[in-house]
Amino acid sequence: MMHQFKQELKKLKIDNNLRKSLTICNVDKNHILVHGNKKLNFSSNDYLSLSSSSYLKKKYSEGINNFGTSSSSSPLISGKSEVHESLEEQLCAWQGYEAAILFNSGYSANQALIRLLTDQDTLLLQDRLNHASLIEEGILSPSKMFRFKHNDVEHLKTLLDKQFTHKIVITEGIFSMDGDFGNIKEIHNILKPSENEFIVDEAHSVGVIGKEGKGISDFLGIKPNIKVITFGKAFGLSGAAILCDSELKDYFENKSKHYIYSTYMQPALAFALMSALKIVRTDNHRRLKLVQLSEAFHDELSNRFQVVSRDSPIISIITGSNVNAIKLSEFLLHEGFLIFPIRPPTVPKNMSRIRITLNYSHKIDDVLRLAKTLNQYKGTFDAK
Ligand SMILES: Cc1ncc(COP(=O)(O)O)c(C=O)c1O
Repeated sequence: MMHQFKQELKKLKIDNNLRKSLTICNVDKNHILVHGNKKLNFSSNDYLSLSSSSYLKKKYSEGINNFGTSSSSSPLISGKSEVHESLEEQLCAWQGYEAAILFNSGYSANQALIRLLTDQDTLLLQDRLNHASLIEEGILSPSKMFRFKHNDVEHLKTLLDKQFTHKIVITEGIFSMDGDFGNIKEIHNILKPSENEFIVDEAHSVGVIGKEGKGISDFLGIKPNIKVITFGKAFGLSGAAILCDSELKDYFENKSKHYIYSTYMQPALAFALMSALKIVRTDNHRRLKLVQLSEAFHDELSNRFQVVSRDSPIISIITGSNVNAIKLSEFLLHEGFLIFPIRPPTVPKNMSRIRITLNYSHKIDDVLRLAKTLNQYKGTFDAK
Protein backbone atom coordinates (compact mmCIF):
# COMPACT_ATOMS: atom_id res chain seq x y z
CA MET A 1 0.00 0.00 0.00
CA MET A 2 1.21 3.45 -0.88
CA HIS A 3 2.27 5.37 2.21
CA GLN A 4 -0.30 7.96 3.31
CA PHE A 5 2.03 10.92 2.70
CA LYS A 6 2.52 9.95 -0.95
CA GLN A 7 -1.23 9.98 -1.48
CA GLU A 8 -1.49 13.32 0.22
CA LEU A 9 1.24 14.79 -1.98
CA LYS A 10 -0.58 13.49 -5.06
CA LYS A 11 -3.81 15.12 -3.94
CA LEU A 12 -2.07 18.43 -3.20
CA LYS A 13 -0.72 18.40 -6.75
CA ILE A 14 -4.13 17.66 -8.28
CA ASP A 15 -5.66 20.52 -6.22
CA ASN A 16 -2.99 23.02 -7.36
CA ASN A 17 -2.02 23.20 -3.72
CA LEU A 18 1.47 21.67 -3.71
CA ARG A 19 4.03 24.04 -2.21
CA LYS A 20 7.71 24.13 -2.98
CA SER A 21 10.16 26.44 -1.26
CA LEU A 22 11.89 28.90 -3.53
CA THR A 23 15.62 29.38 -3.12
CA ILE A 24 16.39 33.05 -3.46
CA CYS A 25 19.53 35.13 -3.43
CA ASN A 26 19.53 38.64 -1.94
CA VAL A 27 20.79 41.42 -4.21
CA ASP A 28 19.99 44.50 -2.11
CA LYS A 29 17.40 45.69 0.42
CA ASN A 30 14.45 44.93 -1.83
CA HIS A 31 15.72 42.94 -4.75
CA ILE A 32 16.33 39.23 -4.91
CA LEU A 33 17.37 36.81 -7.60
CA VAL A 34 14.85 34.15 -8.55
CA HIS A 35 16.42 31.58 -10.90
CA GLY A 36 19.04 34.22 -11.77
CA ASN A 37 16.50 36.97 -12.56
CA LYS A 38 16.24 40.13 -10.46
CA LYS A 39 12.82 40.70 -8.87
CA LEU A 40 11.38 43.30 -6.53
CA ASN A 41 10.47 41.55 -3.29
CA PHE A 42 6.97 42.28 -2.01
CA SER A 43 6.77 39.13 0.10
CA SER A 44 8.98 39.84 3.10
CA ASN A 45 7.75 40.72 6.61
CA ASP A 46 10.75 42.99 7.09
CA TYR A 47 8.32 45.91 7.48
CA LEU A 48 10.82 48.47 8.78
CA SER A 49 13.63 47.13 6.53
CA LEU A 50 15.82 46.54 9.58
CA SER A 51 17.23 43.21 8.39
CA SER A 52 19.55 45.14 6.08
CA SER A 53 20.37 47.96 8.51
CA SER A 54 24.16 48.40 8.64
CA TYR A 55 23.89 49.55 12.27
CA LEU A 56 22.08 46.34 13.24
CA LYS A 57 24.53 44.17 11.29
CA LYS A 58 27.36 45.86 13.16
CA LYS A 59 25.65 45.28 16.50
CA TYR A 60 24.98 41.62 15.71
CA SER A 61 28.68 41.10 14.85
CA GLU A 62 29.67 43.00 17.99
CA GLY A 63 27.40 40.66 19.97
CA ILE A 64 29.03 37.60 18.44
CA ASN A 65 32.49 38.98 19.22
CA ASN A 66 31.53 39.70 22.82
CA PHE A 67 29.31 36.74 23.68
CA GLY A 68 30.11 34.00 21.17
CA THR A 69 27.79 32.27 18.76
CA SER A 70 25.51 30.29 21.06
CA SER A 71 23.97 30.25 24.54
CA SER A 72 24.92 26.55 24.48
CA SER A 73 22.41 25.61 27.13
CA SER A 74 18.88 25.92 28.40
CA PRO A 75 18.00 29.13 30.31
CA LEU A 76 17.71 27.12 33.52
CA ILE A 77 21.19 25.64 33.23
CA SER A 78 23.87 28.05 32.02
CA GLY A 79 22.18 29.54 28.94
CA LYS A 80 20.88 32.78 30.43
CA SER A 81 23.28 35.69 30.67
CA GLU A 82 23.14 39.36 31.63
CA VAL A 83 22.44 40.38 28.07
CA HIS A 84 19.20 38.32 28.08
CA GLU A 85 18.19 39.92 31.33
CA SER A 86 18.84 43.42 29.96
CA LEU A 87 16.71 42.65 26.91
CA GLU A 88 13.88 41.38 29.13
CA GLU A 89 14.05 44.57 31.21
CA GLN A 90 13.99 46.79 28.13
CA LEU A 91 11.04 44.92 26.63
CA CYS A 92 9.12 45.24 29.91
CA ALA A 93 9.84 48.97 30.16
CA TRP A 94 8.72 49.46 26.55
CA GLN A 95 5.52 47.45 26.76
CA GLY A 96 4.60 48.09 30.40
CA TYR A 97 4.64 44.49 31.65
CA GLU A 98 6.24 42.98 34.77
CA ALA A 99 7.97 40.16 32.96
CA ALA A 100 9.22 39.02 29.57
CA ILE A 101 10.03 35.43 28.56
CA LEU A 102 12.30 34.99 25.56
CA PHE A 103 11.89 32.30 22.90
CA ASN A 104 13.67 31.34 19.72
CA SER A 105 10.52 31.75 17.66
CA GLY A 106 6.98 33.00 17.83
CA TYR A 107 5.79 29.54 16.90
CA SER A 108 7.34 27.97 20.00
CA ALA A 109 6.25 30.89 22.23
CA ASN A 110 2.61 30.40 21.20
CA GLN A 111 2.77 26.65 21.60
CA ALA A 112 4.43 26.94 25.00
CA LEU A 113 1.81 29.41 26.16
CA ILE A 114 -1.20 27.30 25.24
CA ARG A 115 0.42 24.10 26.49
CA LEU A 116 1.15 25.68 29.85
CA LEU A 117 -2.12 27.54 30.42
CA THR A 118 -4.71 24.97 29.43
CA ASP A 119 -6.15 21.84 31.00
CA GLN A 120 -9.42 19.94 30.65
CA ASP A 121 -11.27 22.64 32.62
CA THR A 122 -10.22 25.38 30.18
CA LEU A 123 -12.50 26.93 27.60
CA LEU A 124 -10.19 28.19 24.86
CA LEU A 125 -11.74 30.65 22.42
CA GLN A 126 -9.75 31.67 19.38
CA ASP A 127 -10.48 33.89 16.40
CA ARG A 128 -10.87 31.46 13.54
CA LEU A 129 -8.13 33.21 11.56
CA ASN A 130 -5.52 32.96 14.33
CA HIS A 131 -2.07 31.77 13.33
CA ALA A 132 -1.40 28.04 12.87
CA SER A 133 0.84 27.93 15.96
CA LEU A 134 -2.11 28.96 18.14
CA ILE A 135 -4.77 26.86 16.47
CA GLU A 136 -2.64 23.72 16.27
CA GLU A 137 -1.64 23.79 19.92
CA GLY A 138 -5.24 24.51 20.87
CA ILE A 139 -6.33 21.37 19.02
CA LEU A 140 -3.60 19.33 20.71
CA SER A 141 -4.35 20.73 24.16
CA PRO A 142 -6.74 19.06 26.63
CA SER A 143 -8.90 22.22 26.65
CA LYS A 144 -12.27 22.59 24.97
CA MET A 145 -11.47 24.87 22.04
CA PHE A 146 -13.90 26.81 19.87
CA ARG A 147 -13.02 29.16 17.05
CA PHE A 148 -15.22 32.26 16.93
CA LYS A 149 -16.08 33.84 13.59
CA HIS A 150 -13.40 36.29 12.52
CA ASN A 151 -13.62 39.46 14.64
CA ASP A 152 -17.21 38.58 15.57
CA VAL A 153 -17.76 39.71 19.15
CA GLU A 154 -21.42 38.58 19.17
CA HIS A 155 -20.33 35.04 18.34
CA LEU A 156 -17.63 35.21 20.99
CA LYS A 157 -20.23 36.35 23.55
CA THR A 158 -22.36 33.25 22.97
CA LEU A 159 -19.31 31.01 23.40
CA LEU A 160 -18.32 32.80 26.61
CA ASP A 161 -21.67 31.79 28.13
CA LYS A 162 -20.45 28.20 28.41
CA GLN A 163 -19.85 27.04 31.97
CA PHE A 164 -16.12 26.64 32.53
CA THR A 165 -13.94 27.58 35.48
CA HIS A 166 -11.16 28.95 33.28
CA LYS A 167 -11.69 30.85 30.02
CA ILE A 168 -9.01 32.12 27.64
CA VAL A 169 -9.61 34.31 24.60
CA ILE A 170 -6.91 34.73 21.95
CA THR A 171 -6.81 37.07 19.00
CA GLU A 172 -4.17 38.85 16.90
CA GLY A 173 -3.09 42.48 16.53
CA ILE A 174 -2.83 42.46 12.73
CA PHE A 175 -3.99 39.24 11.08
CA SER A 176 -1.10 37.83 9.15
CA MET A 177 -2.93 36.76 5.99
CA ASP A 178 -5.65 39.42 5.89
CA GLY A 179 -3.85 42.49 7.18
CA ASP A 180 -6.86 43.68 9.17
CA PHE A 181 -6.82 44.59 12.86
CA GLY A 182 -8.10 42.32 15.61
CA ASN A 183 -11.27 43.53 17.34
CA ILE A 184 -9.29 44.05 20.51
CA LYS A 185 -11.28 46.86 22.10
CA GLU A 186 -14.66 45.21 21.60
CA ILE A 187 -13.37 41.87 22.86
CA HIS A 188 -11.75 43.49 25.87
CA ASN A 189 -15.03 45.24 26.70
CA ILE A 190 -17.01 42.01 27.00
CA LEU A 191 -14.44 40.07 29.05
CA LYS A 192 -14.58 39.82 32.84
CA PRO A 193 -11.04 40.40 34.13
CA SER A 194 -11.61 38.10 37.13
CA GLU A 195 -12.76 35.17 34.96
CA ASN A 196 -11.17 35.52 31.54
CA GLU A 197 -7.61 35.66 30.35
CA PHE A 198 -7.02 37.75 27.25
CA ILE A 199 -4.04 37.00 24.99
CA VAL A 200 -3.08 39.04 21.93
CA ASP A 201 -0.49 37.91 19.42
CA GLU A 202 1.05 41.12 18.08
CA ALA A 203 3.57 39.44 15.74
CA HIS A 204 2.67 41.70 12.80
CA SER A 205 1.72 44.84 14.70
CA VAL A 206 4.68 45.61 16.96
CA GLY A 207 7.01 48.03 15.27
CA VAL A 208 4.32 48.91 12.75
CA ILE A 209 1.47 50.44 14.77
CA GLY A 210 1.21 52.91 17.62
CA LYS A 211 3.45 55.14 19.67
CA GLU A 212 7.00 53.78 19.70
CA GLY A 213 5.67 50.86 17.65
CA LYS A 214 4.12 49.31 20.75
CA GLY A 215 1.39 47.62 18.73
CA ILE A 216 -2.36 47.77 18.52
CA SER A 217 -3.48 46.97 22.08
CA ASP A 218 -1.34 49.78 23.43
CA PHE A 219 -2.58 52.10 20.67
CA LEU A 220 -6.13 51.34 21.83
CA GLY A 221 -5.21 51.83 25.49
CA ILE A 222 -5.74 48.16 26.31
CA LYS A 223 -3.43 45.87 28.25
CA PRO A 224 -4.11 42.19 27.55
CA ASN A 225 -3.09 39.80 30.37
CA ILE A 226 -0.54 38.34 28.00
CA LYS A 227 0.99 39.68 24.81
CA VAL A 228 3.14 37.78 22.33
CA ILE A 229 5.59 39.72 20.19
CA THR A 230 7.98 38.36 17.60
CA PHE A 231 11.30 39.59 16.25
CA GLY A 232 11.42 38.02 12.78
CA LYS A 233 9.24 40.70 11.23
CA ALA A 234 9.51 44.44 12.06
CA PHE A 235 12.58 43.84 14.25
CA GLY A 236 14.52 42.38 11.30
CA LEU A 237 16.00 39.59 13.45
CA SER A 238 14.34 36.49 14.92
CA GLY A 239 12.90 35.14 18.16
CA ALA A 240 9.94 36.15 20.29
CA ALA A 241 8.85 37.22 23.75
CA ILE A 242 5.84 36.58 25.93
CA LEU A 243 4.95 39.61 28.06
CA CYS A 244 3.08 38.81 31.26
CA ASP A 245 3.19 39.13 35.06
CA SER A 246 6.02 37.84 37.22
CA GLU A 247 4.03 34.94 38.62
CA LEU A 248 3.37 33.51 35.17
CA LYS A 249 7.05 33.85 34.38
CA ASP A 250 7.90 31.84 37.51
CA TYR A 251 5.46 29.20 36.35
CA PHE A 252 7.12 29.09 32.90
CA GLU A 253 10.54 28.65 34.47
CA ASN A 254 9.26 25.71 36.48
CA LYS A 255 6.81 24.01 34.18
CA SER A 256 7.14 24.95 30.51
CA LYS A 257 8.91 22.17 28.64
CA HIS A 258 9.25 24.35 25.53
CA TYR A 259 11.15 26.86 27.66
CA ILE A 260 13.13 24.56 29.91
CA TYR A 261 14.27 21.90 27.45
CA SER A 262 15.53 24.03 24.58
CA THR A 263 18.81 25.82 23.91
CA TYR A 264 18.18 29.45 24.82
CA MET A 265 18.26 32.43 22.47
CA GLN A 266 21.78 33.32 21.23
CA PRO A 267 23.18 36.06 23.51
CA ALA A 268 24.40 37.90 20.40
CA LEU A 269 20.83 37.95 19.14
CA ALA A 270 19.59 39.34 22.46
CA PHE A 271 22.27 42.03 22.15
CA ALA A 272 21.25 42.92 18.60
CA LEU A 273 17.57 42.92 19.62
CA MET A 274 18.25 45.72 22.10
CA SER A 275 19.60 47.84 19.26
CA ALA A 276 16.63 46.93 17.06
CA LEU A 277 14.32 47.93 19.92
CA LYS A 278 15.92 51.38 20.05
CA ILE A 279 15.25 51.87 16.33
CA VAL A 280 11.71 50.49 16.61
CA ARG A 281 10.94 52.91 19.44
CA THR A 282 12.41 56.03 17.87
CA ASP A 283 12.25 55.78 14.07
CA ASN A 284 8.71 56.99 13.52
CA HIS A 285 9.53 57.95 9.95
CA ARG A 286 9.75 54.24 9.07
CA ARG A 287 6.14 53.70 10.20
CA LEU A 288 5.00 56.86 8.43
CA LYS A 289 6.58 55.73 5.19
CA LEU A 290 4.56 52.49 5.35
CA VAL A 291 1.37 54.56 5.56
CA GLN A 292 2.45 56.68 2.57
CA LEU A 293 3.28 53.58 0.51
CA SER A 294 -0.04 52.01 1.36
CA GLU A 295 -2.02 55.13 0.44
CA ALA A 296 -0.19 55.52 -2.86
CA PHE A 297 -0.78 51.86 -3.74
CA HIS A 298 -4.49 51.84 -2.89
CA ASP A 299 -5.09 55.16 -4.70
CA GLU A 300 -3.59 53.70 -7.87
CA LEU A 301 -5.12 50.20 -7.72
CA SER A 302 -8.25 49.63 -9.78
CA ASN A 303 -11.36 48.91 -7.69
CA ARG A 304 -11.98 45.69 -9.59
CA PHE A 305 -9.68 43.99 -7.07
CA GLN A 306 -11.09 42.54 -3.87
CA VAL A 307 -8.70 43.82 -1.23
CA VAL A 308 -9.22 42.51 2.32
CA SER A 309 -7.95 45.53 4.24
CA ARG A 310 -6.29 48.91 3.73
CA ASP A 311 -5.23 49.22 7.35
CA SER A 312 -1.73 47.79 7.35
CA PRO A 313 1.36 46.94 5.26
CA ILE A 314 -0.22 43.53 4.53
CA ILE A 315 -2.34 43.79 1.39
CA SER A 316 -4.24 40.67 0.37
CA ILE A 317 -5.99 40.49 -2.98
CA ILE A 318 -8.53 37.69 -3.09
CA THR A 319 -8.51 35.52 -6.19
CA GLY A 320 -10.82 32.71 -5.01
CA SER A 321 -9.41 29.51 -6.43
CA ASN A 322 -5.86 28.25 -6.03
CA VAL A 323 -5.28 28.28 -9.75
CA ASN A 324 -6.20 31.95 -10.04
CA ALA A 325 -3.86 32.86 -7.19
CA ILE A 326 -1.04 30.95 -8.90
CA LYS A 327 -1.75 32.60 -12.27
CA LEU A 328 -1.71 36.10 -10.80
CA SER A 329 1.48 35.41 -8.87
CA GLU A 330 3.14 34.01 -12.02
CA PHE A 331 2.05 37.05 -14.03
CA LEU A 332 3.58 39.36 -11.41
CA LEU A 333 6.79 37.34 -11.28
CA HIS A 334 7.07 37.66 -15.05
CA GLU A 335 6.64 41.43 -14.64
CA GLY A 336 9.41 41.58 -12.04
CA PHE A 337 7.57 41.30 -8.68
CA LEU A 338 7.92 38.47 -6.18
CA ILE A 339 4.50 38.06 -4.57
CA PHE A 340 3.35 34.65 -3.37
CA PRO A 341 0.02 32.93 -3.79
CA ILE A 342 -1.50 32.00 -0.42
CA ARG A 343 -3.69 28.92 -0.45
CA PRO A 344 -5.51 26.61 1.99
CA PRO A 345 -4.92 25.56 4.70
CA THR A 346 -3.18 28.91 5.37
CA VAL A 347 -6.41 30.64 4.30
CA PRO A 348 -9.98 29.24 4.02
CA LYS A 349 -11.02 27.30 0.91
CA ASN A 350 -12.02 29.52 -2.05
CA MET A 351 -10.29 32.45 -0.35
CA SER A 352 -6.91 31.99 -2.00
CA ARG A 353 -5.10 35.22 -2.65
CA ILE A 354 -1.86 36.95 -3.30
CA ARG A 355 -0.31 38.62 -0.26
CA ILE A 356 1.65 41.83 -0.79
CA THR A 357 3.79 43.17 2.06
CA LEU A 358 5.14 46.72 2.10
CA ASN A 359 8.58 47.47 3.51
CA TYR A 360 10.09 50.82 4.51
CA SER A 361 12.73 50.64 1.78
CA HIS A 362 10.17 50.32 -1.05
CA LYS A 363 9.86 53.48 -3.09
CA ILE A 364 6.59 55.22 -3.91
CA ASP A 365 7.46 54.53 -7.52
CA ASP A 366 7.74 50.79 -6.75
CA VAL A 367 4.23 50.57 -5.33
CA LEU A 368 2.79 52.65 -8.16
CA ARG A 369 4.42 50.35 -10.72
CA LEU A 370 3.02 47.35 -8.88
CA ALA A 371 -0.51 48.78 -8.81
CA LYS A 372 -0.31 49.73 -12.51
CA THR A 373 0.92 46.25 -13.40
CA LEU A 374 -1.95 44.70 -11.46
CA ASN A 375 -4.39 47.02 -13.25
CA GLN A 376 -3.16 45.62 -16.57
CA TYR A 377 -3.81 42.00 -15.53
CA LYS A 378 -6.36 40.43 -17.86
CA GLY A 379 -7.06 37.26 -15.85
CA THR A 380 -10.30 36.62 -14.04
CA PHE A 381 -11.12 35.87 -10.40
CA ASP A 382 -13.65 33.56 -8.86
CA ALA A 383 -13.80 34.88 -5.32
CA LYS A 384 -17.14 34.08 -3.66
C1 LIG B 1 0.52 35.91 14.01
C2 LIG B 1 1.78 35.12 14.06
N1 LIG B 1 2.17 34.59 15.22
C3 LIG B 1 3.30 33.86 15.33
C4 LIG B 1 4.09 33.62 14.23
C5 LIG B 1 5.32 32.80 14.37
O1 LIG B 1 6.41 33.61 14.55
P1 LIG B 1 7.88 33.10 14.16
O2 LIG B 1 8.03 33.34 12.70
O3 LIG B 1 8.78 33.90 15.02
O4 LIG B 1 7.92 31.63 14.49
C6 LIG B 1 3.74 34.16 13.01
C7 LIG B 1 4.61 33.92 11.82
O5 LIG B 1 4.37 34.24 10.73
C8 LIG B 1 2.55 34.91 12.91
O6 LIG B 1 2.16 35.43 11.73
